[in-house]
Amino acid sequence: MPTYDLVVIGTGPGGYVCAIRAAQLGMKVAVIEKNSTLGGTCLNVGCMPSKALLHASELFEQAGHSFEKMGIAVPAPKLDLPSMMNFKQQGIDGNVKGVEFLMKKNKIDVIQGKGKILGAGKVEVSGAGKTQLVETRNVVIATGSDIARLKGIEIDEKRIVSSTGALSLERVPGKLLVIGAGVIGLELGSVWHRLGAEVTVVEFLDRILPGMDGEIARQFQRVLEKQGFKFKLSSKVTGIDSSGKTLAVKVEPASGGVQETIDADVVLVCIGRVPYTEGLGLQEAGVTLDNRGRVQIDQHFATSVKGIYAIGDVIAGPMLAHKAEDEGVALAEILAGQAGHVNYDVIPSVVYTTPEVSSVGKTEEELKQAGTNYTSGKFPFTANGRSKVNQTTDGFVKVLADAKTDRVLGVHIIGVEAGEMIHEAAVLMEFGGSAEDLARTCHAHPTRSEAIKEAALAVAKRAIHM
Ligand code: FAD
Ligand code: NAI
Repeated sequence: MPTYDLVVIGTGPGGYVCAIRAAQLGMKVAVIEKNSTLGGTCLNVGCMPSKALLHASELFEQAGHSFEKMGIAVPAPKLDLPSMMNFKQQGIDGNVKGVEFLMKKNKIDVIQGKGKILGAGKVEVSGAGKTQLVETRNVVIATGSDIARLKGIEIDEKRIVSSTGALSLERVPGKLLVIGAGVIGLELGSVWHRLGAEVTVVEFLDRILPGMDGEIARQFQRVLEKQGFKFKLSSKVTGIDSSGKTLAVKVEPASGGVQETIDADVVLVCIGRVPYTEGLGLQEAGVTLDNRGRVQIDQHFATSVKGIYAIGDVIAGPMLAHKAEDEGVALAEILAGQAGHVNYDVIPSVVYTTPEVSSVGKTEEELKQAGTNYTSGKFPFTANGRSKVNQTTDGFVKVLADAKTDRVLGVHIIGVEAGEMIHEAAVLMEFGGSAEDLARTCHAHPTRSEAIKEAALAVAKRAIHM
């Protein structure tokens, strides 16, 4: 008899949530983690530390620039970066301990070390100078992702950093050059810009935030430029000379052409993430990967080897913590004989900048490409009473609905608190709701969420406050 019903390799949001749900359903579960702390990328070097710094730097920015107009006279704020980093670390520690507590509460064994799959039902764990064999009915690969690297550019995590180094810089760089105008570049670029850095973002494509609704991304770029961000779109970095005191970054048009050199104190490389399967022994175990190195699975998260499953960043789909969590829950339920399921059409995504950008469902570009006949309703925060009194009027809400059935197909928001606001759209879409359902739902006044109701009304061209 194997010791465990389920062994999960990796304790990020995919792995630890899968373990908890499986334990709730009566399985004997163990998790294997190579790091000294639980919680994976998200808790240690991803979602949580970045949000702590976004929160603190946003308040720093407000204290310096927004208080006065509200009649709050305070001296110019002084940055104490070590204390801000300590604030971030306290947040990490609290969350990581929370996961440890949840493992104990659910009687999940935590095995520290690096897991290697020897075959169906057998995982070897090496760590702290010893190796042990763990036997189990089922294995879940939840080993997450790692930073994508740029050929010829060595990340030293001091001057040329990935997101991990950018979360722990020892001083505010005078000039920060960000490679990649994706989520990490704009979030961490915002942190250091608010704390005083000049930020230039070099992006290969002709737009920022590829994958997000184009109209939202264009407005977002304008807002960021107003804040002081510089963008070099359709451009690529071809090399960095790090021999001098400042880094000399060679940038040229994406399609080739005249090269320029931009000076920077720190370069942040954030051009995406890649699945992490190093040392897992997948090839020897017969687990198939796809052409992008992701573990290949069927609709039930099963790999090519019976009894071995995969979830989270290591499989296809958006690399988001909540997507990994939902997959963890669904898989545990499937293993318990239930009908676990993830609705990939309704996975919200949020960029936690100021203003925030949030989105659920299809973008206009996707609907056009699919030839879907859709209607669109938009409502700007300049016409929303609460936003007006708070003087936070940047942005708008856009609701996209099927032209024939009125079913909501996508909602996109740019504006303060957009990340919290998106969820009413997600709930509506889970229930197959229409723009009219949203428009007829009473929204509390005065809230920014009224802009969602108004955008839904605008789908039928009957917004009230516009
Ligand atoms: P991970 O969290 O990567 O966890 C994998 C774990 O597996 C790690 O702990 C690793 O040590 C362990 N592991 C790997 N191999 C082995 C092995 N062989 N043996 C034992 N253990 C192993 N997503 C959001 O939704 N919202 C955000 O705001 C957000 N912000 C982010 C900010 C940054 C800077 C970054 C880098 C990412 C951010 N993400 C965010 C993405 C999010 O972190 C990932 O989508 C999420 O962590 C994926 O979860 P996972 O469980 O698949 O893998
Ligand atoms: P990303 O995929 O969001 O953005 C990468 C950007 O780099 C793209 O715009 C891409 O066109 C550009 N790029 C690629 N190669 C380039 C090159 N050679 N030169 C210049 N630009 C180049 O990836 P990012 O920002 O690294 O984040 C990784 C993942 O982490 C994201 O996909 C996201 O899923 C997750 N994440 C989520 C967050 C959130 O939900 N708020 C926050 C941070 C990360």
